[in-house]
Amino acid sequence: MKIARDIAPPILPLSLEDMGYAVGGKTLLSGITLRIEAGQRLVVMGANGAGKSLFLRLCHGLIDPTQGRRRWASDEARAEAQAMVFQRPVLLRRSVAANLDYPLALKGLPRAARRETVARTLDRFGLNDLAERPARLLSGGEQQRLALARAWAMRPQVLFLDEPSSALDPSATRIIEEMVAQFSDEGITIVMTTHDLGQARRLAAQVAFLHRGRLIEHRPAAEFFAGPEAAEARAFLAGDLIW
Ligand SMILES: Nc1ncnc2c1ncn2[C@@H]1O[C@H](COP(=O)(O)OP(=O)(O)OP(=O)(O)O)[C@@H](O)[C@H]1O
Ligand SMILES: [Mg+2]
Repeated sequence: MKIARDIAPPILPLSLEDMGYAVGGKTLLSGITLRIEAGQRLVVMGANGAGKSLFLRLCHGLIDPTQGRRRWASDEARAEAQAMVFQRPVLLRRSVAANLDYPLALKGLPRAARRETVARTLDRFGLNDLAERPARLLSGGEQQRLALARAWAMRPQVLFLDEPSSALDPSATRIIEEMVAQFSDEGITIVMTTHDLGQARRLAAQVAFLHRGRLIEHRPAAEFFAGPEAAEARAFLAGDLIW
């Protein structure tokens, strides 16, 4: 199981060099220079509309920068070495087990290896009783647990999460946070957004703070929470509205 990740060339660090994104003549992100190191747990914060989701989509490669560069350490395993989980999980109209199996099949894993991986994943994340249930009938918290389990089963080097628990209750949120923390302990690089300050404090090793499409602060989490330098970030932490 570990092998797939270990033999793939490391794709991190990810270097963003003056990265920007404009559409329809409107600049939505600009001047983002940032290096994401292997093993990092980076939480991207900022007000609604600051550009957090766009930032993740650019990093993951769902869209391409219109300015500057996004450079991985290696392009060889770039696509299969990264996974992304969205606020609302994107699940197939199939069983829980089939949702786990499908991306492994796309990746070209032989049937026996897939069966073993699916069984191990169901077991590890407490999904055994739900294995044959249509994924779309699961509760929101169960669906998100499945989405994270599916991402884990792909053995990514880096996992992007966009507000993974913002629609969930506190106990489902705790499960998601525990999963993210475990993935990080296993060496998976985490890049996530959250509106939940408590969650950011619990999970972040570093914080990147976006304001109107610009990266205005990037620091170790302890420093950031002790007192951000930027006035906008201070206002955000204090709960003031910033635009
Ligand atoms: N394809 C697009 N065309 C035009 N504008 C867009 C497009 N995608 C995003 N935007 C705009 O870019 C800005 C940043 O959007 P983004 O979704 O990244 O914000 P966010 O920080 O994730 O906000 P939230 O906290 O609400 O999720 C917003 O003003 C949004 O309306
Ligand atoms: Mg967003």
